[in-house]
Amino acid sequence: DGHGIVAQEGHMNNYKADKEAPSQECIYTTSNGVPMPHPYEVQRVGPNGPLLLQDFHLIDLISHFDRERIPERVVHAKGSGAHGKFVCTDDMSDLCLAAMFKKGAECPVTVRFSTVGGESGSSDSARDPRGFSVKFKTPEGNFDWVANNTPVFFLRDPAKFPHFIHTQKRDPETHLTGADDSTNFWDYLSQNPESIHQVMILMGDRGIPSGWRFMHGYYGHSLKLVNKDGSWVYAQFHLRSDQGIKTLTNEEAAKKSPDYGQADLFYAIKDGNYPSWTLSVQTMTPKEAENLWKEKKINVLDLSHVWPHSAFPLRKIGVMTLDQNASNYFAEIEQIAFNPSHMPPGIEPSADPVLQARLFSYPDAHRHRIGANYQQLPVNAPVCPYKMGNFQRDGQMAFFNQGSRSNYLSSIDPIQFRERSVNLNDVHGGDFLSNACTFLSTIYPEDFNQPRKLWEKVFDDGAKDRFIETVSTHMSTCREPEIIKRQIAIFREVSDDLATRLEKATGIKGYDGISNLLFNGSHNGMYKGGIA
Ligand code: HEM
Repeated sequence: DGHGIVAQEGHMNNYKADKEAPSQECIYTTSNGVPMPHPYEVQRVGPNGPLLLQDFHLIDLISHFDRERIPERVVHAKGSGAHGKFVCTDDMSDLCLAAMFKKGAECPVTVRFSTVGGESGSSDSARDPRGFSVKFKTPEGNFDWVANNTPVFFLRDPAKFPHFIHTQKRDPETHLTGADDSTNFWDYLSQNPESIHQVMILMGDRGIPSGWRFMHGYYGHSLKLVNKDGSWVYAQFHLRSDQGIKTLTNEEAAKKSPDYGQADLFYAIKDGNYPSWTLSVQTMTPKEAENLWKEKKINVLDLSHVWPHSAFPLRKIGVMTLDQNASNYFAEIEQIAFNPSHMPPGIEPSADPVLQARLFSYPDAHRHRIGANYQQLPVNAPVCPYKMGNFQRDGQMAFFNQGSRSNYLSSIDPIQFRERSVNLNDVHGGDFLSNACTFLSTIYPEDFNQPRKLWEKVFDDGAKDRFIETVSTHMSTCREPEIIKRQIAIFREVSDDLATRLEKATGIKGYDGISNLLFNGSHNGMYKGGIA
């Protein structure tokens, strides 16, 4: 071009062509592309002398090695994943304008399953909820599910999340986790009774899924499905395992290798035994949501409760199948970044406060864990039928820096916009109205209804025995009897039978119930001693 610059393509080799080539076709080079005779060569002064600082080959090797680890996820650090596809089998365009919900629509997916509390080398068979994340690469951008294998969660106030998670991380002084000392764990739970529904599931027979294939995934939070005219309904998504449910007992789990889930998933896919899940949805109009609160005190914005299936049945949408293992775990699973705020047009967040906080937390974590340009990594990058452009530029690892395109909204080099999918005037902003509250965790008698149903109607005699055994064994490392007395009081609100059996098993007499207790000094709506 007259400036001595050769064609751009020659300049911009970005390893694409080399990446997949088999070793036999590659020449061994330093990171700057200089061919080397052998990886074990070092430059030193004579046969026994010191090494030379000029030896870029050795320094290149070791300094890259020093930087191999990125921070592990602060929660859900241990996991496994795979690729596959989602097919919409049952049209949902009567409720939602998202292209992925039109009958016959297909999109690639990448899934990551995880435990929650453990570090990256911990056991896949821990008694812990399981993470169930899906990146749907829809034709209108990515829709990320960042869900769990249980329909409910421990809390309904996002400010509690770091506290709760810290009780499962290493104690600052003893450096022990809950496996050796359960005091902090039960201390938190006995001060925050809205956790009881999730505790019943966690300590029950479904508390240890067998690997990753035999469990369901539940979005947990209510979302909003919006249609072309701006009308919307609340939605609760479920991914139900076509393999069925399989769980481990405490004894079976103790015998599994730490990577049991990883091996089970990897070899199932490698052997062509592809696992699949059926995507279904429960929906609810805003009016029905108000009635549910008035009649049953179930708040659609509170993920410690489930939506009754009798009133809100599941409607099938499609099937997700995993048929491809990652060829590089770090690039395709460790660096994948799931974010609940990734939603295509037609799917919107509800006002659930925990979801609202998560919309911020995940991309914040990704900028820290992977870097500002994490969306450019191949596993995170959307697959769209249109060419993508925006005004984000620079930052570390800006591999795709949008070339010479204008970096501002230019009239000389204008970018195109999509048509609005809904008339903004039609969108309801008000959602679901109830009393303003600042304490999201106030306890109501209704908080114990669904846990009680588990104990009385779902658990059979054997399941009850195992539940008592699991909880009392877990509590045996709790150093404070006062904590156990409080937790037994919470269990007593679920069932007197449960609490009495636990008293026998632990040898500790619990309190009668929670009406005389305050939790961390307040938030007990059932407190009899005045305003709590
Ligand atoms: C991972 C925060 C509640 C499911 C994470 C990560 C953070 C986080 C920071 C690590 C993200 C990363 O480094 O990529 C929070 C906060 C919560 C919350 C602040 C509440 C206020 C929940 C709930 C669910 C959930 C309610 C499920 C219903 C997951 C899953 C992952 C995860 C599945 C792992 C994602 C993956 O596989 O990469 N969470 N979380 N979290 N969280 Fe949450």
